[in-house]
Amino acid sequence: MTTDTKFITVKSLPSPKGHMILGHLPQFQTPNKHQVLERWVEECGELYRINFVGKELMVSANADINNEILKLRPQKFKRLAKMNEILVEMGVNGVFNAEGESWKRHRKPVADALNAQKIKEFFPVLQDKTQSLLKKLKQYEENQKTIDIRKYCMSFTIDVTTAIAFGYELGTLNNKENDFQEHLEIVFPMINERITAPIPIWRFVKRKKDKKLEKSMQTIEATIHKFINEAKTRIKDNPLLKEKPSNFLEALLGDNEETNFSDQEIYGNIFTMLLAGEDTTSNTISWIIYYLSQNPEIVSKIRKESVEVYGDNEIAETNKQLGKLIYTNAVIQEAIRLKPTTPQLYLEANEEVCIENLLIPKGTKIIIQTKVAQTQETYFTNADKFMPERWMKSECPMHQIHAPEVIKAFGGGARFCPGKYLATNEMLILVSAICKNFNISLSVDPKKVTEQFEFTMYPDNLYVTLEKEKKA
Ligand code: HEM
Repeated sequence: MTTDTKFITVKSLPSPKGHMILGHLPQFQTPNKHQVLERWVEECGELYRINFVGKELMVSANADINNEILKLRPQKFKRLAKMNEILVEMGVNGVFNAEGESWKRHRKPVADALNAQKIKEFFPVLQDKTQSLLKKLKQYEENQKTIDIRKYCMSFTIDVTTAIAFGYELGTLNNKENDFQEHLEIVFPMINERITAPIPIWRFVKRKKDKKLEKSMQTIEATIHKFINEAKTRIKDNPLLKEKPSNFLEALLGDNEETNFSDQEIYGNIFTMLLAGEDTTSNTISWIIYYLSQNPEIVSKIRKESVEVYGDNEIAETNKQLGKLIYTNAVIQEAIRLKPTTPQLYLEANEEVCIENLLIPKGTKIIIQTKVAQTQETYFTNADKFMPERWMKSECPMHQIHAPEVIKAFGGGARFCPGKYLATNEMLILVSAICKNFNISLSVDPKKVTEQFEFTMYPDNLYVTLEKEKKA
């Protein structure tokens, strides 16, 4: 390092206009915090600082700096400490909120349980749940009903994740009375609210929603502990399950001589899998349907590909066939680029770090914005256009500028999402099957479908109608 190296300090970064005492808190009191942050990028540039009643945070939409920060975990950066605080307070100790050595202990068995080989074995679960959803959608199509499609995407991912996590058939697609889903739906937005709350009001006064959350957490915890006990009995009766577990819970219990997880930690990781795997995947499928409902020619191309890969069958027959759905995969990539369901990540510096002359002091709280670079002309030609072909080199007229390395929708570095393979397979089988069987139309004005952020970003007001594909 030469002596004349000029450093930029976090303190010297620009800041959007805010309140003298409350700082940027009033502007941040909206469900769509990601859009507020995006507006501030336009006002201040890719690096800026905000404060909530004097507590400062750095915001970065700079692709290179974000990539570096993600790569420097777990040593130099961690998740925002508040994230762990909130989850631990709710009784959750799992891979998502663990740090340092504890994170390494959690990460290995979780990543092993979600690796491609294990997920391939769960293909029959994906097939079964896709078949159930198609059946449901056909009933709606026959009655020509407008469908709140997001709800069904959610039921699909809940059914897949719970079957894989603890082998239980929740069957939310077919069972309206099942309250497990309702409890989860209460929990996710509350975690989001608490992480960004400037004052932890719930620690002083329990509002109606805090009591509701407490009740939901108790129900979820009791249900999962019941599964843990049942799985322990199964393993005791059949020790072979240690070698060949039939679900994620059995795999965690089978590994336990090595990992030595307490029941509470096993519960924490099962809960984490539900938390991390459901809304993210179902909302990504919803965004894909949002684009498909406005682009019938893309639906036809997916259908054509499905015929080439699995002929007259209604849905894909083997896991291998999913790998052949190249165009469908390109559609998924493009929806993830434009509408990442995790548009921001909250982190914190463990020590002083210098990245590209930016000096980040120890303890700096950072919001990384992933969506900005993904939708910038600097990285993608015609960046605001939905063009799946850009992901298929041979067909792409847009390859002048194509920088897939800036896509951070699944995070980056050692803490990269371990569920990407499962999520991709869920999306491939379902999106291909829906297009094979139906034409999709948007039932509302596209402008009325808006981005909403509640732990993940979803399309609000997404209603569609389906029409059965008429065979020629
Ligand atoms: C489209 C679907 C999904 C998206 C967009 C997504 C996105 C993400 C992101 C952004 C992170 C944070 C990564 C980081 O800090 O660098 C993450 C972490 C994680 N995801 Fe996913 N995810 C998806 C599906 C899944 C699924 C299906 C599962 C499992 C069932 C899963 C399990 C996890 C876990 C366990 C973590 C924590 C990893 C750690 O902290 O080491 N995700 N995901």
